Amino acid sequence: MKFLVFLGTVRDSTPPKPARLGVRVVESILACLQSRYEEHEIELIDALDYPLEAVFKPHFAYPKSKAPSELNHLAEKIENADGFVMVSPEYNHSMSPALANLLNHFGSSLFSYKPSAIVTYSAGQWGGMRAAVAMRAFLSELGCLPVSAMIHVPKAQEVFEANGNPQAGEDQDAWFDYFGRTLNQLVWWAQAAREQRAQVDPHELVRDFRTHPSERNAP
Ligand SMILES: Cc1cc2nc3c(=O)[nH]c(=O)nc-3n(C[C@H](O)[C@H](O)[C@H](O)COP(=O)(O)O)c2cc1C
Repeated sequence: MKFLVFLGTVRDSTPPKPARLGVRVVESILACLQSRYEEHEIELIDALDYPLEAVFKPHFAYPKSKAPSELNHLAEKIENADGFVMVSPEYNHSMSPALANLLNHFGSSLFSYKPSAIVTYSAGQWGGMRAAVAMRAFLSELGCLPVSAMIHVPKAQEVFEANGNPQAGEDQDAWFDYFGRTLNQLVWWAQAAREQRAQVDPHELVRDFRTHPSERNAP
């Protein structure tokens, strides 16, 4: 199966230091996925690599040909993926606006009927839990229902080195076991959804909302 790991930090200003604390978190998540789920294809989608314009123009609001090519390529990747890992910092008790911006470019039809896993982190002691709870509603609306277990990394700067390796005194196996609780749920649901999508095309059963609210079958 194919999984996309979205990283939602684009902050290059300090303080607070270090900037892009999320890089070490996602490196550790990727290391866990690569060592424990090697039969699957894993790709990092870094929000920093995409043109996130100040004026919001969703990808689905204009013809594909007019969308920036990076977004067209990402749309294909989302369509072909079996599941998603969403890695976000917590800013003001909310998810990363850069991650929300990037995901908002795509209609739910691309994400739907595939599960997601929520990973949050922070420099403080709560590990981004408040952002994580809000991400449940956001991801549910996108159609990639989040699995029940979540990953939170408090004080990430004290847990991982910049390259994602554990800091002295941190037990990588213990962290990977903790990640595994969520990632195992993700892989299980992704497999189940993939098999069911092959049996019944959900887009035939429930029309996608693409251009007009009437597509939602609202009275
Ligand atoms: C604008 C802003 C708001 C923040 N709000 C929170 C918050 O609500 N909860 C929290 O635990 N940390 C908060 N922090 C601290 C972040 O956890 C810390 O800066 C972390 O490094 C952010 O991840 P990043 O470096 O990947 O951007 C905030 C940081 C910034 C810059």
